[in-house]
Amino acid sequence: MMTNERRRLVVEGGSPIIDFDNKAFKPIPEEGIALATDAMRRGVMYRYQPKHVDDCLTARFERDFAAHMGLKHAVGTNSCGSAMYIALNIAGVQPGDKVLSNAFTFHAVPSVIHHARAEPVLVETNREWGMDAEDLDRKAAESGAKVLLMSYMRGHVPDMDAIMAVVEKHGLFFIEDCAHAYCTTWDGRRLGTFGDIGCFSTQSSKGMSAGEGGIFVTDDDEHAAKAVLYAGSYEQLWKKHYGLDAALMDRLQNEIPGYSMRMQEVTAAMLLPQIPRLDVIHRIHTRNHALLRSLIGDHPHIEVPSPHPKAGNFHDTMQFHLVGMSTAQAEAFLDVAKQEGLPMQIFGIRRNARDYRSWTYVDAHRDTLPQTIENIAFAVDLSMQPHLTEDNVRVMARVLHEVIDHVMG
Ligand SMILES: Cc1ncc(COP(=O)(O)O)c(C=O)c1O
Repeated sequence: MMTNERRRLVVEGGSPIIDFDNKAFKPIPEEGIALATDAMRRGVMYRYQPKHVDDCLTARFERDFAAHMGLKHAVGTNSCGSAMYIALNIAGVQPGDKVLSNAFTFHAVPSVIHHARAEPVLVETNREWGMDAEDLDRKAAESGAKVLLMSYMRGHVPDMDAIMAVVEKHGLFFIEDCAHAYCTTWDGRRLGTFGDIGCFSTQSSKGMSAGEGGIFVTDDDEHAAKAVLYAGSYEQLWKKHYGLDAALMDRLQNEIPGYSMRMQEVTAAMLLPQIPRLDVIHRIHTRNHALLRSLIGDHPHIEVPSPHPKAGNFHDTMQFHLVGMSTAQAEAFLDVAKQEGLPMQIFGIRRNARDYRSWTYVDAHRDTLPQTIENIAFAVDLSMQPHLTEDNVRVMARVLHEVIDHVMG
């Protein structure tokens, strides 16, 4: 009804006011395209094909990303899901074990726990979409779980002092899912350096984009050695990595299965020049996010929760709660905004893949997480890719205002 009645907002001259795609993914930098096409022309797409480590794009990418993180090791994988799966194996997770994780995250995360034939224990979400440390403490005690796989969903940072206190109290093996947490910090320290292992995604919607891909990071030599082998290095191929311990590799070589989860050269080619660009992209996101927040934050039907003062966010997306609306009005908000050219989603409706109630392969959690249900019910998710100009952001704010006014009559 409301959807069909509305005429699109137009600029003078009659074209739609939104003439850009806020969700369009970042193109690959020309330097990356040149490296990738060169690798393809030469037929060198397999990471272990070059004779010397210095000619392996994947090894160079791993070395540069580890340096960016200030960690000893990075291992390229074919996805973040693979990096997390390898991390669960390194943590020693066995079928039937319990793994603490977020009730609010993307379904790839409980899926990877399922892949390891383990059982997720879902932890509640706070108003700013981070993990609730008190619930983590409670669930760790109740379940006896010894592993935590925690997502920084949409780059939101929980109180890391409180989380780390719980990790230490229960002696948890801590895996950080940093798929959305490039350049994200707590008290000045990068996320991905707090846990035993950090995992990043280079799927196209993420801070670094290569279609698919993942990165496993750690300061621990043995975890790195195992990750290289689990990813699918065999015989002496580990020599085409930087910074591995030869004695360790010799010892572990035949003990660890290889799951064929390697990164390939074309992926690394696309990613290599993106590392030094992360800071520039981060600045654009920060500017656009602050601008949008200043333009919509005071609206009576919008609540943009404030991050913890110690958190430094990447801000490549924006989330806000719609307040004082019914579910029907929230659905109309999505429909009308989409018609205007501003697609968004609400995590808690329409069987969203980030709503734990839609993960039917995870048992025993249905409706048992009221805090998460409340905090996703009207939580809007808006993509803000870095090609957006300040003018684009102003137009987005205007559309948000007008759509809400329309829906609320
Ligand atoms: C929070 C989160 N973690 C992990 C992943 C998995 O990443 P990948 O697709 O690289 O396996 C995703 C994917 O979108 C995600 O959103």
